[in-house]
Amino acid sequence: MTAPRTRALRYGGDYNPEQWPEEVWAEDVELMRRAGVNTATVGVFSWARIEPRPGERDFGWLDRVLDLLHAGGIEVFLATPTASPPPWLGHRFPETLPVDFDGHRLAYGSRNQFCPSSPVYREHALALVTDLARRYADHPALKLWHVGNELGQVCHCDTTAAHFRRWLRARHGTLDELNEAWHTVFWSQRYGSWDEVIPPRRAPYLINPGQRLDFARFCSDTLVESFLAERDVLRRITPDVPVTTNFMGLHPVVDGWALAAHEDVVSHDWYPDPADPESHVLSALSFDLMRSLKRGPWLLMEQAAGAVNWRRRNPPKPAGQLRAQSVQAVARGADAVCFFQWRASRGGAEKFHSGMVPHAGPDSRVFREVEALGADLAALAPVAGAPVVADVAVVLDWENWWAVELDAHPSGDFALLDRVRDCYRPLFELGATVDFVPATASPADLAAYRLVVVPNLYLVRDPEPLRSFVAGGGTVVVGFFSGVVDERDQVFPGGYPGPLRELLGLRVEEVVPLGPDDVLACSSAELGGFTADFWRDDLLVEGAEVVAALDDGTPVVLRHRHGAGAAWYVATRPEEGAAVRLFARVLAEAGVEPAPDRPRGVEVVRRGDVLFLVNHGVDEVSVDVPGAHVDLLTGAGVSGSTTLGRFGVAALVPQAG
Ligand code: GAL
Repeated sequence: MTAPRTRALRYGGDYNPEQWPEEVWAEDVELMRRAGVNTATVGVFSWARIEPRPGERDFGWLDRVLDLLHAGGIEVFLATPTASPPPWLGHRFPETLPVDFDGHRLAYGSRNQFCPSSPVYREHALALVTDLARRYADHPALKLWHVGNELGQVCHCDTTAAHFRRWLRARHGTLDELNEAWHTVFWSQRYGSWDEVIPPRRAPYLINPGQRLDFARFCSDTLVESFLAERDVLRRITPDVPVTTNFMGLHPVVDGWALAAHEDVVSHDWYPDPADPESHVLSALSFDLMRSLKRGPWLLMEQAAGAVNWRRRNPPKPAGQLRAQSVQAVARGADAVCFFQWRASRGGAEKFHSGMVPHAGPDSRVFREVEALGADLAALAPVAGAPVVADVAVVLDWENWWAVELDAHPSGDFALLDRVRDCYRPLFELGATVDFVPATASPADLAAYRLVVVPNLYLVRDPEPLRSFVAGGGTVVVGFFSGVVDERDQVFPGGYPGPLRELLGLRVEEVVPLGPDDVLACSSAELGGFTADFWRDDLLVEGAEVVAALDDGTPVVLRHRHGAGAAWYVATRPEEGAAVRLFARVLAEAGVEPAPDRPRGVEVVRRGDVLFLVNHGVDEVSVDVPGAHVDLLTGAGVSGSTTLGRFGVAALVPQAG
């Protein structure tokens, strides 16, 4: 099964007509047509409406909604409404409600209140999914199944404990193996019977890290399993309809690689922080990750037309930003630009969250921007399905994410995404296009790239792919606090970076996390002088060449020839300018073509034969574009250079002839 084929880019959003009287529905469809909307995601939170009492079914309203959309030419992503069970489920079967780390059972009255291990929840959910799939199997509007919403539930109840024990038996085989893996010899934690083993729960002091890491793996596997349970029902009944579930942005709970492997297409919910002037960099990172998860086009399933309602202060997006952010997603591989939600709610917890149709109605700035965006996306149709090609891969691995952020580490400030961002930021600034890969990528996977950046790899399962990539002529850059533990979270004796020592030509004796005011002065003949902060290693050179060092001679940037390639190690956090110089040097060494110079804040990405330019900055800028092009968005010719105002965008194709 492959992603839904699109002749065009998809445009639309979560459509929740059950919140409105039926008179409004016809106006909805008319406004959707006006805005160029071609897709609606229906039913995400409709469990209570479809099954008002246990076992009852009310599909009449949904029949009418789907028929109306179809008649209006709008295609449907139909959601299984399993993310938010109705009150009757929790009331009748309290064991379906999740229990938190402190042992409190959470109540209904919000959403997401289910234990993913609960057989009772799953039985009710699957019965509903089965009936939904049978009812709409042949509906002509149905184009994609949207399973649940943002899988991410974690539970610590007794049912979960039993499930966890089954999972642990499958992973470790015997209790002796589990005791060994968790190093329970420490603090008298040895388990004598499986019944004694529990999920991590509030305890007097630090909890066994092996137990925590296995629980993180288990929670991820359990959510993938609950996705698969629904997907298998849908597959059986509608084998030709592809299936997705929407990722919750950059979220640690579910291993994105594992979940994406079972989806037909990846979809993503993304809400950049308007107070962060650099939010476009994190957006680019998240979009590149989504494209990488299945190595192809993905769907922006949710974004906000204006304000969200869940930050401390929620200003609307300034005029033009929605367009820039949407085009940015398309440039980085999105084949759909969708929103939460079509019409802003008049009641309920999210009534102050923007919609494509705001409270003010269609005669409003937001709706005019929504209409204009529909026209833009129609003009960008030629890019649908086109690939984005990258020379650089960045390793992002969930097991490592869970492990490196366990507690009682050298620094409680160590956040994996910050480390990834520290590497991604200079690459973005240099205009390098980046894919992500898991730490388990094979040598054949890595062979597609010239440079592999490993912002951090605290937990190393197999160093071989990186070693053979470099031996074969590739370049890698590895960040500090890597090569520390094996997959059981047990330290490699002899010094870090453990199994990467030989590749990197160095040995770390001690790690030194720095305080907020500590600044290191570094000197380097190649990179010039620079400052650094956050971290430093005390390390010994074992064959690597020192590229930069502290004034006392302690190396902070090293380069080691290995086979036909080179392995770099960065033992601190260089200031941004130095990080840009460092990556420029590494890209050049790896043979990656430099991107043309452009003003800061201007993003340049090629997708297929379209060169996208997006100005995220506040000033008007002029960007050099060698050759003659046509802007798909305006139809105008562009030759030599183009001017982009605040949030200005261009989508340039070479001029024919
Ligand atoms: C998403 C969620 C939507 C809505 C949105 C608000 O995480 O899937 O249902 O709550 O956030 O920003």
